[in-house]
Amino acid sequence: MLYLKETNYEDIEQEYLFVRDMPIDENGMTNEWHGISRKDFEEKAIVQMIASAKGENLPEGYVPESFLFLWNDDEIVGQFRIRHYLCESLRTGAGHIGYFIKKEFRGKGYGTEGLKQALQIAKKIVPEDEIYLRVNKDNIASFKMMIHHGGYIEHQDETKYYIRIKK
Ligand SMILES: CC(C)(COP(=O)(O)OP(=O)(O)OC[C@H]1O[C@@H](n2cnc3c(N)ncnc32)[C@H](O)[C@@H]1OP(=O)(O)O)[C@@H](O)C(=O)NCCC(=O)NCCS
Repeated sequence: MLYLKETNYEDIEQEYLFVRDMPIDENGMTNEWHGISRKDFEEKAIVQMIASAKGENLPEGYVPESFLFLWNDDEIVGQFRIRHYLCESLRTGAGHIGYFIKKEFRGKGYGTEGLKQALQIAKKIVPEDEIYLRVNKDNIASFKMMIHHGGYIEHQDETKYYIRIKK
């Protein structure tokens, strides 16, 4: 069974390995903790992830962000992040939701199901009328996921589509 779960201390061992191995940047989905040590994960990264979801200790200019893991039964297969509202840079840039599915689990529909669940959560949190998403034009899998869930292209530039999903 696939389900999203907030970052938490009980699952720290699996969360650590997932975050350590997630690339620094793939198609604009970034991970500032790639390669992190177990000690720094426990003392810094997980503390920041949990605080961020509560809107605590945010870096200057950052909005609250929930870090959710996508689990398939007892195994983490992906990460979904939900920014709780838009600031100017998110409005014109990355939008509300970012996601990543681990390479060995791709092409099985996990991204599509994870986005469905993330949208259900985001629709309750975000105050804007639409969920904002952005995708590279050559990222066909991610683009399809967005369109499957009612996304439409609001505008585009040379390399990216700016997608909106109505609440
Ligand atoms: C994008 C990503 C999340 C897709 O995850 P996934 O679990 O493989 O996605 P799904 O299996 O649900 O597939 C989604 C759709 O894309 C299609 N697809 C999957 N891989 C594909 C590929 N390499 N090329 C073209 N289409 C592909 C699937 O067939 C499916 O379409 P369908 O429902 O019409 O059959 C994953 O590749 C990833 O994490 N990429 C790196 C990070 C990233 O790009 N994040 C998004 C930034 S906007």
